[in-house]
Amino acid sequence: MSLLKRAGLALSAALFVAPAAWADSAADLFANQCGTCHTMSAKDAMLQGPNLGDVYGRKVGAVAGFAYSPDYTKANFVWDTAHLDAYLANPAAVLPDSYMAYQQPDPAIRAQIIAYLKAQAPLYQGGK
Ligand code: HEC
Repeated sequence: MSLLKRAGLALSAALFVAPAAWADSAADLFANQCGTCHTMSAKDAMLQGPNLGDVYGRKVGAVAGFAYSPDYTKANFVWDTAHLDAYLANPAAVLPDSYMAYQQPDPAIRAQIIAYLKAQAPLYQGGK
């Protein structure tokens, strides 16, 4: 292989590694932090919690067939950055009877997860 061609390959690899690594780490972060209890797709089997693929922009307590605690179905807001940030820091502060056993005290990790959910939402709308 010519030196020039090799340099070109190395360059294109370098250019494409960064965004792919970002996508992988955001997906990994979701898998590690949330994946024990949540799948993304509505087509996947529901785990302990409802699917979250389209949760950004979705009304609270709206997944049909999931047995939410009463506060989720009584509440009336849409999951946006502010609601998700407060909720992931302490679910019971937003929905007092929540039994979601997760709290994330680090705002930077919460922000990364919320950005990931926001970016994924369009891909999962309409029951995908
Ligand atoms: C130990 C299991 C567990 C983990 C880990 C967990 N959750 Fe949950 N989550 C739940 C359960 C259970 C509910 C429903 C709680 C209820 O009805 O009281 C829920 C509900 C939710 C809801 C409300 C959804 C809706 O339809 O209104 C959101 C948003 C959510 N979780 C986001 C997350 C995110 C993001 C993570 C990771 C950062 C995460 N959860 C980690 C168990 C978990």
